[in-house]
Amino acid sequence: MFYPFIRKALFQLDPERAHEFTFSQLRRLNGRSLQFLIRQSVPDKPTICMGLTFKNPLGLAAGLDKDGECIDALGSMGFGSIEVGTVTPKPQPGNDKPRLFRIVAAEGLINRMGFNNHGVDNLVENLKKTHFDGIIGVNIGKNKATPVEQGKDDYLICMDKVYPYAGYIAINISSPNTPGLRSLQYGAALDDLLMAIKKKQIELEKRHAKYVPIAVKIAPDLSEEELIQIADSLVRHNIDGVIATNTTLDRKLVQGLINSDQSGGLSGRPLQYSSTEVIRRLSKELNGKLPIIGVGGIDSVVAAREKIEAGSSLIQIYSGFIFKGPGLVKDILTHI
Ligand SMILES: Cc1cc2nc3c(=O)[nH]c(=O)nc-3n(C[C@H](O)[C@H](O)[C@H](O)COP(=O)(O)O)c2cc1C
Repeated sequence: MFYPFIRKALFQLDPERAHEFTFSQLRRLNGRSLQFLIRQSVPDKPTICMGLTFKNPLGLAAGLDKDGECIDALGSMGFGSIEVGTVTPKPQPGNDKPRLFRIVAAEGLINRMGFNNHGVDNLVENLKKTHFDGIIGVNIGKNKATPVEQGKDDYLICMDKVYPYAGYIAINISSPNTPGLRSLQYGAALDDLLMAIKKKQIELEKRHAKYVPIAVKIAPDLSEEELIQIADSLVRHNIDGVIATNTTLDRKLVQGLINSDQSGGLSGRPLQYSSTEVIRRLSKELNGKLPIIGVGGIDSVVAAREKIEAGSSLIQIYSGFIFKGPGLVKDILTHI
């Protein structure tokens, strides 16, 4: 109800300052006694996906709470799952600021954050403290300083550390802001990575007597042929799920608008259509062999329904949450 006023104030600030300010407030509310201030009651919509029972199908997408600092506060807004990260083995500052931009006229964001995070060990400490009763996904990546040929090692280090605390693990090979990362989506590099990840998952399952599903997060900027090859690899390596999609490099729908020429990944409404098309194509190719977590420009009940109709078992939001606020969570969960 109050979000339009809060948004007006926040949008006066530089986007990253607005994020930092909001997080400083959320951190205060993360203690359980104050959470009633932001708690929303939403309908239960139990959804089984990747062998896990989600209390509802709507999750917070990766990148908002990279270090898992506000899981309980964000969880109290009704999300069925929260994907923290992307986290890397070592802490890293990310790219120089400014690196986050609003395209207000199109309800889009461009970011080139570059995996700024406090490192996997810090995230694990935060995961130990959470009381969130939903599913926590942990999204992992590689450090910028790690050559892409050795990127696999970074994913394995992170898997090892987060496995006991994660509901599922998301393998991010689709951020446009880490040089070379997206090359891991193709051919032999993808096969090699997925084989190592699967082997690690089996080893960790034995060690912890717990199966933690693995989902791979892909870009929207893939040709049909590339999409088919990725789907084939995911099935061959028994990956548990696919998250579609990350941000796009395409600027067609925002041409000429303020900030549209910033480099980085575009998210929000301008991504809505293309990510849905990727999901639709992927769904046809996968034919139910593994579930799709649909993300990209969901900013309304209709957009959420479109993602589900295209083949998503679960959905996630990020930019829509910034533009519409927590009310969007309630709205979607009440009406889908
Ligand atoms: C500022 C910002 C930071 C992001 N950081 C990450 C990240 O660290 N890891 C990741 O997998 N996706 C990241 N994303 C991508 C989102 O998780 C999501 O896939 C994308 O924004 C599309 O969803 P949306 O249109 O609802 O925002 C980020 C997005 C934004 C806007």
